[in-house]
Amino acid sequence: MNHFISINQLSNEQITRLLEKAKTYKATNYAIPKQLFAANLFFEPSTRTKMSFTVAERKLGLEALDFYPESSSIQKGESLYDTVKTFESIGADVLVIRHQADDWISELEQSINIPIINAGAGKAEHPSQCMLDLLTIYEEYGRFENLNVVIVGDIKHSRVAKSNAHALKRLGANVFLSAAPGYEDESLEYPYVSMDEAIPFCDVVMLLRIQHERHDEKHETSSYLTQFGLTKERESKMQKHAIILHPAPINRGVEIDGDLVECSRSRIFKQMENGVYIRMAILTYVLEEWGIIDESLIKEC
Ligand code: CP
Repeated sequence: MNHFISINQLSNEQITRLLEKAKTYKATNYAIPKQLFAANLFFEPSTRTKMSFTVAERKLGLEALDFYPESSSIQKGESLYDTVKTFESIGADVLVIRHQADDWISELEQSINIPIINAGAGKAEHPSQCMLDLLTIYEEYGRFENLNVVIVGDIKHSRVAKSNAHALKRLGANVFLSAAPGYEDESLEYPYVSMDEAIPFCDVVMLLRIQHERHDEKHETSSYLTQFGLTKERESKMQKHAIILHPAPINRGVEIDGDLVECSRSRIFKQMENGVYIRMAILTYVLEEWGIIDESLIKEC
């Protein structure tokens, strides 16, 4: 049975089905009339992902179990594996995990017998963020084919960039990257462009935060916005229909001018709203895949 770990494990058809399911959950309330427990194990800070998984679980009628590493037996030296095995033993039906290690799943995937959803793995992958970004683009354009998407920022340290670039390419979009020197990632084989080159022809400008917590030393950012970020001047040169995305949290005044965060072409808060519905779709998908529920159990309410 597959855990929900990487966007690469989903076919294009499965991605489309999840997007359609999320749209259904957005339009109509659905719940599962069966006692099920979802445990949210976040070993790295999170606001959006943790809270939107919690809202998604509660909307579906699941009991959401919270976990705080700083007040848990992690402090007594308990390992990730033993913590996760504990949640399985006490009756969790699904686990949502974020951890700072890129490959935390490798020690769990063969030995944990309930579904695990990746809510962020180090610098490697953030598949539920990717899915909510895809949902936001899909709602906007109804397609991915031939859209020009530029992913801008600290590509090297971004799990969002990795998940999104491959998924968008596979779905037919033209993917470009834009990064300040030192923030490029050679493992991603997409053309690099400057912001000034990208802005006039892109349909989607996807900004990324500088991931200071993953840097060895603090980087100076006072001239970052004018050199590499989305200034008001650059925004004025975007195509009329083009949109701005950002997974957040946002460094206002660094990767984006603070006044643009809520401008008419920004979909940043729409992304957060969509996070709830795509996570409902992901939760029901894995519960069905693992035979914990079948589709007929998901009732309109
Ligand atoms: N986009 C995102 O993952 O935000 P959080 O770190 O707040 O969950």
